[in-house]
Amino acid sequence: MSGADVILEIKGLKTHFFTRRGVVKAVDGVDFSLRRGEVMGLVGESGAGKSITGFSILRLIDEPGRIVDGEVIFEGRDLLTVPEAEMRRLRGDRLAMVFQDPQTSLDPVFTVGSQIVESLVFHQSLSPSQAGSRAAELLRAVGIPDAEKRLAAYPHQFSGGMRQRVVVAIAMAQNPALLVADEPTTALDVTIQAQVLTLMRRLVRNHGTAMILITHNMALVGQFCDSIAVMYAGQLIEHGTKEKVIRDPQHPYTQGLIRSIPGRQERCRRLDQIPGMMPNLIDLPPGCPFRPRCPSAGGDCVQRPLLRPVGLDHQAACWRRNRP
Ligand SMILES: Nc1ncnc2c1ncn2[C@@H]1O[C@H](COP(=O)(O)OP(=O)(O)OP(=O)(O)O)[C@@H](O)[C@H]1O
Ligand SMILES: [Mg+2]
Repeated sequence: MSGADVILEIKGLKTHFFTRRGVVKAVDGVDFSLRRGEVMGLVGESGAGKSITGFSILRLIDEPGRIVDGEVIFEGRDLLTVPEAEMRRLRGDRLAMVFQDPQTSLDPVFTVGSQIVESLVFHQSLSPSQAGSRAAELLRAVGIPDAEKRLAAYPHQFSGGMRQRVVVAIAMAQNPALLVADEPTTALDVTIQAQVLTLMRRLVRNHGTAMILITHNMALVGQFCDSIAVMYAGQLIEHGTKEKVIRDPQHPYTQGLIRSIPGRQERCRRLDQIPGMMPNLIDLPPGCPFRPRCPSAGGDCVQRPLLRPVGLDHQAACWRRNRP
């Protein structure tokens, strides 16, 4: 990977929640980097730490959570040391985030147009009338028919897919260098999911924006991403180009996730789910966090495996890789 192309480099990121029951190590030593324009899928089971990784990049972690260690180098600066006022400016400017539920990003009491305009006036210092025509342009760019008229509508007058297009339009309006999309289409039905993701991928390609697409859905990642990072119990356990990870998964957990993609195992009647559950992040057992569920665990797995190269543009954290 050429150093000049890297826009985001995460090093040893740890985000913990200090709860009454104990310390939840939601993100516990995550490293990866992203090139300009790269679309990376961040996948893993519920509770693996995907969202908290995304929130940590934008420094949107509230009490009782705290980023306790690591660096988030974005365009050459460690975001973890940037003053809060500067961070607020960066969010929605060079950095943008799209969440699962557009209800939480759009305010029901304001028209769609006024919300786009407000964001444009704040971040781009456009006059209200300039912002109004730019808002219509943005709606057209995300495929909303009758854009001028639709600006006067309220969010509830839009379908779920259209609301999410609006959120994407707002996120992309400032031409961010990085977009973190957390389950952006999970609330939508399958056909609309594909339409919105196709749109997002086209927009990020056109703008050269890098995107982290957080999802449970391995099939979506295969379809829309350039690279894949697999998260388990607060750690990355595999990372590589889409081709490497899907065709030649090295970690038994990734192998399980890929076997569970519908349509991949024509001869199996039932989806191949990974038996067992992710361990409690408060009392993680020492060693490999996947050990209790791993079909090929052995004595060496009592040590924590670190992500290490297993091929060109491919890393995995497993001691038993390629061993019986
Ligand atoms: N405010 C909080 N207080 C305590 N623990 C928290 C808090 N927020 C998140 N966690 C814990 O951090 C861990 C990681 O959560 P995160 O939301 O990142 O999971 P996720 O991979 O995004 O899951 P999902 O696929 O369900 O969205 C979970 O164990 C969760 O319970
Ligand atoms: Mg999440």
